[in-house]
Amino acid sequence: MDKLLVHGGRPLHGEVVISGAKNAALPEMCAALLTAEPVHLINVPRLHDVRTMRKLLDNMGVASETHGERGGISFVAHDALSPEAPYELVKTMRASVLALGPLLARFGEATVSLPGGCAIGSRPVDQHIKGLQAMGAQITVEHGYMIAKLPPGQSRLRGARISTDMITVTGTENLLMAATLAEGETVLQNAAQEPEVTDLAEMLIKMGAKIEGHGTSRISIQGVDRLHGCTHQVVADRIEAGTFLCAVAATGGDAFLRHARADHLDAVIDKLLEAGVQVTAEDGGMRVRSPGGALLKAQSFRTTEYPGFPTDMQAQFMALNVLAQGTSTVTETIFENRFMHVNELSRLGAHIAIDGREATVTGGAQLSGATVMATDLRASASLVIAGLVASGETLVDRIYHLDRGYDRMEDKLRGLGADIERLST
Ligand code: EPU
Repeated sequence: MDKLLVHGGRPLHGEVVISGAKNAALPEMCAALLTAEPVHLINVPRLHDVRTMRKLLDNMGVASETHGERGGISFVAHDALSPEAPYELVKTMRASVLALGPLLARFGEATVSLPGGCAIGSRPVDQHIKGLQAMGAQITVEHGYMIAKLPPGQSRLRGARISTDMITVTGTENLLMAATLAEGETVLQNAAQEPEVTDLAEMLIKMGAKIEGHGTSRISIQGVDRLHGCTHQVVADRIEAGTFLCAVAATGGDAFLRHARADHLDAVIDKLLEAGVQVTAEDGGMRVRSPGGALLKAQSFRTTEYPGFPTDMQAQFMALNVLAQGTSTVTETIFENRFMHVNELSRLGAHIAIDGREATVTGGAQLSGATVMATDLRASASLVIAGLVASGETLVDRIYHLDRGYDRMEDKLRGLGADIERLST
């Protein structure tokens, strides 16, 4: 199992290229299921989750081919597919559930494993099921699988007004994709407004879908008979960009994040500015300059849906609060178990107390290197940030979590001057 060895204490300087967003690429790969024509994605990040999604699509019979330098992958989902997502693949990546909506919409049937639990929380998919049922699907759960089909005599899903009980990102994406091929109009109320949802909607529009209101909480979709192929560039990963903002802020330094979109990171940038970090949008990206974590002012925040502070940035910003001056509170409102980095940060010398969904961080810690264990994707990133600042050596174990969602993170950090290497065993 690979590990990362970090020698802390080097400020980050230079330029880093931000990759395409994992959470846009995954639904966009599933959108290829909606048409028999070729779908070309550009700027697909090189990630383990992308490889898993490709395997899942391949297993159904979708042909795919990598091309060019710029993360290009083409997909062709022929008419004869096996519309099934088996447990062996779904269990390793919850986003596999994104195949359900497109399969049902195009083929009138789908068998997709229930994703089960996950380290950061229970994460049910009841809203995906409820929404598709509102569109006329018959869904039963048997032997751990969601078996979805259309009622006898019905060849398409039917448009519906759907209001999800909570805002759900992949739920919105699943229903959005399903609605593109449904008969009549679908209105999604309480829809997720994340940039990844908007990027998917823009791709679907290129494929011929009729969508309005994406980027707001009310999306309306007028179903069409068929969609066609398209070429689409995956939007830049705001969470990868935010992670590098926090890494530069913590270590001190000056870096340019090429392709990063400042307009997708307002809530995080506001907190960084209040902390004393300089962040400016520039042509083609974003610049960040920081005097170093110990000279910053700790910031309290609570995670909420977009455009609020993203839960996917909570762990990384907490690493910054550990170093900064003052006491801060961090409230996690999206997932019930997303503080697993806290115990590991404490092993490096952080002072954090947890009470339910609230963590109180006493700043000004002097971190010293230790062996720590990555527990989930963003938790891993926060440990790497802490390791970049800690004195001596930090060994981050179980970095397969990191590889799921960051495109060669250690290479990018090394490019900025960090002393970091991968140990493969
Ligand atoms: N929820 C339900 N029922 C549902 C759907 C969601 O109860 O049917 C609950 C969840 O348990 C959670 C909340 O609603 O408490 C929000 O979950 P959401 O459905 O929005 O999360 P997701 O779609 O499964 C995506 C990202 C996550 C990110 C969350 C929140 C993808 C592939 N994943 O997950 O990304 O944390 O939205 O923004 O888009 C990551 O990249 O590290 C990651 C975990």
